[in-house]
Amino acid sequence: MALEARSEAKLDRAVIFLGPPGSGKGTQAKELAKVYGLPHLSTGDMLREHVSQGTALGVKAKPIMGRGKLVPDSLVLRMVAERIARPDCRHGFVFDGFPRTVTQAKYLGELLKQHGLQQPLVLHMAIASPVLMRRLTGRRTCKVCGALYNVYDRPPQAAGICDYDGGELVQRPDDREEVIRERLHAYEQQTAPLVEYYRRLGSLQDIGADGSFEEVKQRMFESLAGSGGVR
Ligand code: AP5
Repeated sequence: MALEARSEAKLDRAVIFLGPPGSGKGTQAKELAKVYGLPHLSTGDMLREHVSQGTALGVKAKPIMGRGKLVPDSLVLRMVAERIARPDCRHGFVFDGFPRTVTQAKYLGELLKQHGLQQPLVLHMAIASPVLMRRLTGRRTCKVCGALYNVYDRPPQAAGICDYDGGELVQRPDDREEVIRERLHAYEQQTAPLVEYYRRLGSLQDIGADGSFEEVKQRMFESLAGSGGVR
């Protein structure tokens, strides 16, 4: 389906990007949200915002995120429930980084029922782990607009400066090798079981997340078109 045609199409449901750190969840979730006019909800971004504002939640989350561990379900669930209750989520949303545990997935299922939304469409970003370290150590993010770059594979036109608004490009504090290893471990232990959880529910599509940004994007839209999830 051509991009122009897609902008007429509707998703009207929750979409979840599931995959290890560096698999491209944020990169592709932003694309999907833009095309379908849905809010992009990243629990990682929400938590980082709490950290930078020094809220009570941010103070609790900061050291946990700094070690590459998952923030406790109780803290994340309240934050997510508040966000989904806002009017812009009435016709669905694109989640990146949530749910990350079976408890979070079950809770999301209940929340969707309460809001009259059907069960989520889950896009599993499948990728071999050797690629991930390079992607994460090379990632840079615009301080102003949040645009994502990679110094190896998607560099900005001028080093350290955002192509869109000239904002400063920064490295995330948890994108250091030792913390990345912990994040990958947390994914294997706590989040990877969700792949089978959602596969059993029949709502999961595997997307090959290795390859160029454009190749992965193409696979994502083809998979969505084939899922019957687009109207
Ligand atoms: P979060 O912010 O969610 O990080 P993550 O899951 O570790 O995922 P990343 O954002 O690192 O990777 P991504 O898959 O989005 O990849 P991206 O598109 O950026 O979470 C951070 C922390 O917050 C957690 O450790 C935890 O403490 C806490 N947290 C968050 N949610 C939580 C929850 N629900 N429960 C508990 N705790 C929670 O791409 C990465 C790089 O690769 C970029 O440079 C990009 O340009 C590049 N790239 C992308 N696609 C390609 C491609 N096809 N080819 C080449 N390069 C590419």
